[in-house]
Amino acid sequence: MGYALTNDTVKDFLAANERKSLLRFITCGSVDDGKSTLIGRLLFDSKMIYEDQLSSLKTDSKKVGTQGDDIDFALLVDGLSAEREQGITIDVAYRFFSTDARKFIVADTPGHEQYTRNMATGASTAEAAVLLVDAQKGVITQTQRHSNIAALMGVRHVVLAVNKMDLVNYSENTFNTIKQDYLEFAQNLGFESIAAIPVSALKGDNITSNSTTMGWYQGQALLEYLETVEVGTADNAAPFQMPVQWVNRPSMDFRGFAGTIASGSIKTGDKVRVLPAGTVTTVKEIITFDKKLESAHAGEAVTLTLTDDIDVSRGDVLSADNAPLEVADFFEADVIWMADEALIPERRYQIKTANRMLSGTVKHIDSVLEVNTNTRKDAEKLGLNDVATCQVLLNDSIAFAPYPENHVLGSFIIIDPLTNSTVGAGMIKSALRNASNIHWHALDVNKKARADQKHQKPAMLWFTGLSGSGKSTVANLLEKQLYSRGIHSYLLDGDNIRHGLNKDLGFSDTDRVENIRRIGEVGKLMVDAGLMVITSFISPFRAERHLAKTLVEDGEFIEVFVDAPLDVCAQRDPKGLYKKAHNGEIKNFTGIDSPYEPPLNPDVYLDTTKLTAEKAAAKVIEYLEEQGYLPRTSKS
Ligand code: ADX
Repeated sequence: MGYALTNDTVKDFLAANERKSLLRFITCGSVDDGKSTLIGRLLFDSKMIYEDQLSSLKTDSKKVGTQGDDIDFALLVDGLSAEREQGITIDVAYRFFSTDARKFIVADTPGHEQYTRNMATGASTAEAAVLLVDAQKGVITQTQRHSNIAALMGVRHVVLAVNKMDLVNYSENTFNTIKQDYLEFAQNLGFESIAAIPVSALKGDNITSNSTTMGWYQGQALLEYLETVEVGTADNAAPFQMPVQWVNRPSMDFRGFAGTIASGSIKTGDKVRVLPAGTVTTVKEIITFDKKLESAHAGEAVTLTLTDDIDVSRGDVLSADNAPLEVADFFEADVIWMADEALIPERRYQIKTANRMLSGTVKHIDSVLEVNTNTRKDAEKLGLNDVATCQVLLNDSIAFAPYPENHVLGSFIIIDPLTNSTVGAGMIKSALRNASNIHWHALDVNKKARADQKHQKPAMLWFTGLSGSGKSTVANLLEKQLYSRGIHSYLLDGDNIRHGLNKDLGFSDTDRVENIRRIGEVGKLMVDAGLMVITSFISPFRAERHLAKTLVEDGEFIEVFVDAPLDVCAQRDPKGLYKKAHNGEIKNFTGIDSPYEPPLNPDVYLDTTKLTAEKAAAKVIEYLEEQGYLPRTSKS
């Protein structure tokens, strides 16, 4: 049954079904619950079947998105499927089928460990969720998790399919108990409707038609429910919003702004506002690939031309003049964490919003949702599959709408800049502060002028290594040599900085991330002042060392790995701290009960078990001469 999905089959399917309404739904449950049997039966008994893994057809889903009607592959799916190329596996199968009454797209997600990100992806476009429970087991933890994620992703209708009724003698009591349990659990999740249907996927009871085996059940069969549950028709009354995907400029006299309309509709002559800038202009033409239109609606991909020659770039949002979006850079958002490596507050990630790539951090984790119980708890980090309300700060302001109002303009994905893989997804709840309009001042006396005045090349020499590896000793000798050669330098040393600027910070992962972030920023200012900066911090995490590197220009960051094995450092124990850590007197000690991630590719490698401190410093000087940071002395 079914055949491979190609551009043409999708088009045919849509064309043939143009007039029918579309329901996108997600099925949740495990193989044991009888999910495959249920889906198989729905597909088998319906009249038309198109089946494939749409998730692998990124380009096609784009095309589908342009077909108008009410198909709208929101950012999360687009984004996440794009990110799959960056190394994330998303296991969502989209299946198409239709009946006389309606057409359907089912997102089927496997129930195993990676369920959160798979389910989030599938649920981000779904209006209804079919939650399968085994009548023999009733509502289990997994049912609760699925419900919570569905609620978070904006699914509006839930139907509890109580399966395997044949194995509990079609007992009305069993069904009622499970239904009651579920209603109690789900009542505060915010679904618009919750239904429960007793079924047997295996026997076909109450799937496509009402079964005689359960005369006590007067409600709808599952398919009838799916055919009649209310779907959100494209809301043309909603204000017009379109994130600009690219600026189309084939010649000097044409400039169009292409994108998919995220909400509302537009016609020529309408006033629009360009956000975040706030400029107002008028729509001149609405163009598709083969014709000009008078008007266009949510879900359609169009190019707009404007009457004024104003500044609009990729990632800006064109919005109805009388209903502009909010503009902000600091948000409360629900975050779903999808990576094995923990999310640490203050760590810098890339954040992809509708058509725009920014950088940002989670400033604070407000609370983590216990998906099994609907309760919330505090947390310092997020682990795989955690769902939390967080404060998210971006490096620039964006125009947005809260996620419940607009899935495209209210969501973002989080990308690890080191690996380029998607590590999380976020749904914006509200702005915590509106755009402050702080602008960078370009100064006349700049870095080059300051460095020229000192006749030197500015750089940031980043020493990293365990406590006791010899960082401070070598850094100190190095600075003495630089000084004697007339170089203007400054040594930022961990212990010293922790007495002043960073005296509010301890040694938790979050505090270390913030410690290094500040040092990176201070180091950057010193490089801008034309200095040769030496930093001497354990700086245990690759991510923050990478961040420091990205703060300065190419060639200005030099990573120096001061290496000595842990047991050697512990033996040296210059401050007696290893002993204390071993005795449990200090916690989170690097190398003991806190990790150290050694550099993979340092610019300078110093093994202090083989080199004396003087030799180590000389090796750095040699590197600086070789690379042109220092003039060669006559002896070299
Ligand atoms: S970092 O991890 O945030 O880069 P930093 O280099 O600033 O650390 O501070 C490390 C110094 O603090 C060590 O050299 C040591 O003297 C002292 N220290 C005190 N407690 C700890 C601890 N738990 N872990 C590591 N260093 C500690």
